[in-house]
Amino acid sequence: MMLSASEVEQLKQAPATEEVLPVFRSRWSPRSFSDREVSAADLRKVFEAARWAPSSNNEQPWRFIVGRRNSDTFQKIASSLVSFNQAWAPKAPTLILGMAKKQFSHNNASNNFALFDLGAATSFITLQAAALGLHTHQMAGYDQDVARKAFQIPDEFALGSVMALGYQGEPSALPNAKLLDSETSPRSRKPLSEIVLAAWGEPAQLS
Ligand SMILES: Cc1cc2nc3c(=O)[nH]c(=O)nc-3n(C[C@H](O)[C@H](O)[C@H](O)COP(=O)(O)O)c2cc1C
Repeated sequence: MMLSASEVEQLKQAPATEEVLPVFRSRWSPRSFSDREVSAADLRKVFEAARWAPSSNNEQPWRFIVGRRNSDTFQKIASSLVSFNQAWAPKAPTLILGMAKKQFSHNNASNNFALFDLGAATSFITLQAAALGLHTHQMAGYDQDVARKAFQIPDEFALGSVMALGYQGEPSALPNAKLLDSETSPRSRKPLSEIVLAAWGEPAQLS
């Protein structure tokens, strides 16, 4: 039986967990996006959220190239995607390429946490988007050389993920069974006992 977009939305919610903000439950990464455009006002809100992420030495090393559907920028980002991602991501109305400056601006020293900070800012985007009823889907599956050349990104910037941003679409619009299967399967996570430790190999006592 084919699930509808709203049934999938329910299925993808993380299980209710006390004291976790609702956006952490509702954020998930669809591959089916609807045609609906993201307003300029909402785009501004998600980048405003990114702006307020913490970063090493407050360097704010992140930069984002934003392509909206039918633009040259969108086309360039879409063309850099690997074929698996090309099959679904260009249906989203917005594609975003993230990058981070590898040196601190004040002394040119290497900033080994630049990509880490970009990841934090990107997470802020995903959560602000979720709060606005939008969805995001990040991708490592793109050709960095192609993207770098297309936008003439200088070497001092390391590339992060490409992100699709838009509204969830009907799962039935996906082009193949593999994508449909993953779209309609529940999300899973490692238990806390595996990822939060008191010592190496020893789970932290959290209750
Ligand atoms: C850095 C990064 C790279 C990813 N690359 C891809 C990708 O190339 N293609 C894809 O379909 N999903 C990609 N994903 C999505 C993950 O598979 C997804 O976030 C994960 O399965 C957890 O699902 P959820 O986001 O719905 O909770 C990527 C996610 C991240 C954070």
